[in-house]
Amino acid sequence: MQNPVCEVVEKCELHSVFEMPGVAWLCPVMLSGQTIASKAQSQSTRRAVMDTLEILSEDEYLTYLRAYYQAGEERFGTHWNYADLLTFLHASASLLKPRNYLEIGVRRGRSLSIVAQCSPACRIFGFDLWMPNYAGMPNPGPDFVREELERVGFTGSLELVSGDSHQTLPEFFREFPEIEFDMINVDGDHSEEGARQDIQQVLPHLAVGGILLLDDITHPQHTYLEEVWDDLVGNNAQFSAAKYTDLGYGVAVAVRKW
Ligand SMILES: C[S@@+](CC[C@H](N)C(=O)[O-])C[C@H]1O[C@@H](n2cnc3c(N)ncnc32)[C@H](O)[C@@H]1O
Repeated sequence: MQNPVCEVVEKCELHSVFEMPGVAWLCPVMLSGQTIASKAQSQSTRRAVMDTLEILSEDEYLTYLRAYYQAGEERFGTHWNYADLLTFLHASASLLKPRNYLEIGVRRGRSLSIVAQCSPACRIFGFDLWMPNYAGMPNPGPDFVREELERVGFTGSLELVSGDSHQTLPEFFREFPEIEFDMINVDGDHSEEGARQDIQQVLPHLAVGGILLLDDITHPQHTYLEEVWDDLVGNNAQFSAAKYTDLGYGVAVAVRKW
């Protein structure tokens, strides 16, 4: 039995896709948003993220985050339920082993490092305009990010594109119209229109079985982000989507089903 989804994923080699020649009773994309969200909330994932954070250059936020994770574990043990962008990225990259990764909003390379460590031979493309003093901390740019990735044992290729993503992304996709990504993280311009534009730009370039993430969906300064996500992805049948909004600033994930 052949169905349209099966035809689309026929040549897909991603770990998220199940293939049995000639039959596709269920949707071949077997990795779901819920699976990623559940792994992202586990103690083992938090611990793995903590291990990576220990390798990176120290800054105020990193010190705070490690202390926060540790306090949660000490007070509430294995049942403590907490997730954030870093645990979602770790869960996603360790489940999928992406061959390539696109990130909008790189900053100090923290989120890139999580993916780079889980999938060290990955081809990474990062977009940022390196806004000075973003969130009150230095935003040192490409050389610093390269060094962070070396620290976690990254052996793949890294291309950092500097500039406003609303210009650099369309230019990039004009140059590489056929390119598809296994994983995409949208974490740059947090304005309503800016986030919408970034998501709309990347969506056509997410591989079937690939994973899309959006951070800060319940951040008090960006309360509209959850609606932007729901509108474009969360309520779109093409995606298996899940959110974590319990603690922290909220994060959303989706796997493209067809
Ligand atoms: C929230 S930080 C990214 C944090 C990073 N993903 C992490 O988890 O470590 C947002 C970054 O997006 C960048 N940014 C903001 N607006 C942008 C735009 N229009 N184009 C490109 N980068 C932008 C800022 O310079 C900043 O470095």
